[in-house]
This record gives sequence, C-alpha cells and structure tokens, in this order.
Amino acid sequence: DVRHLMDLKSLVRSIPDYPKPGIVFRDITTLIADPRGLRAAVDELIWPFIGEKIDHVAGIEARGFILGGAVAHELGLGFVPIRKKGKLPWKTIGKEYQLEYGVDTVEIHADAIGKGDRVLLIDDLIATGGTADAAIELIHESGGETVAAAFVVDLPFLKGAARLRDKGVSVHTLLEFEGE
Ligand code: PRP
Ligand code: MG
Repeated sequence: DVRHLMDLKSLVRSIPDYPKPGIVFRDITTLIADPRGLRAAVDELIWPFIGEKIDHVAGIEARGFILGGAVAHELGLGFVPIRKKGKLPWKTIGKEYQLEYGVDTVEIHADAIGKGDRVLLIDDLIATGGTADAAIELIHESGGETVAAAFVVDLPFLKGAARLRDKGVSVHTLLEFEGE
C-alpha cells in the first residue's frame, strides 16, 4: 500500500545528469505506472479542493495532462488543455516563458475559459515556476482566475511555488526534492 507520502516519494525515479550535466531529473513515469502510486497521487492532489468552488481543471502538456485529466474526473469537472505552441486546432492565445533549460510557448484555446471562471491548475512538477506562471497568465487573459495550482513534485530550491504564491495563487505540492 502507498499509505504515506514517503512511499509515494520512493516511486519517483531520479536520473542524474539529465537532460544535462548537473541536473537531477525527477521522473514521475515510475510513479504513475504504479497503480497504487497513481491513485495515491491523485487522492493527495485533490483533497484540498473537494467541495471548493472550481469551474475547470487546466493541465499543462505533457505530464500535466495525465494527472490533470484524473484530477478533473475525480472532482467531477471538465478538463482544459494548456499546450505547447502549434498543437491546439482552434483560436488560441499564447505566452512565451523561460524554462529551466530554454524558452518555450504555451497556448490555450481563446474560448476555453469563461469570464470569472475559477480554475485549478495541475502539472506534474514545479521547478522555477515559469511554465505555471505563463499558464496562470493565459488563464487570466482568458477572463478566468487561477484559484490554486497543484503539483506532485516541488523543487523548493528553484522557488517556483513561492513565485506563484507571490501572485496570489494558492499552491499545493506533495513531494519536495533537493537539487542533488
Ligand atoms: C517540466 C515539468 C513542468 C515544467 C516545470 O516540463 O513537467 O511542466 O518542466 O519547470 P518550470 O517550473 O521551471 O517551468 P517540460 O517543459 O520539461 O515538458 P514536458 O512536460 O512536455 O515533458
Ligand atoms: Mg511539463
């Protein structure tokens, strides 16, 4: 049984020097491949939001789709994808952001979020917070409000969670890892 967050933590695979020397990649594929791990992760992600007034769950491509879809299903809400540039078929709004390793753009369908809608943002991991920050800006420009963001993994030394909290977004994370 995955009863404790320590057990959940042991299901995350750490890969040294990926994608480049000095970076330890925290790989959640091993956690979500484990049936008890996936259920425990989703249960732990959703508990603060049960009974809260939320209109949509938004998930960030790629790994945020897996967890965000499960979270939306469990909370009885719909799912809104936030994708990498050029993937969404309808009218989009986009935001460029600085990644831990490079620059990228995320997009959302322009009509995905209604005015005043309350959104729960999901991703697998928060590092610098650049990706989530861009997603929050997209949700804001869509007329919505990100009431909270939840992640399985937090890398506190990169201060992403603090960055989101400074924007007034409540942040919920399950597991913290150091840089090495
Ligand atoms: C990783 C991770 C988060 C993001 C966090 O995704 O899944 O989405 O980085 O980094 P940040 O907090 O510094 O912005 P990545 O961009 O590697 O792409 P993927 O999910 O498509 O694999
Ligand atoms: Mg990602």
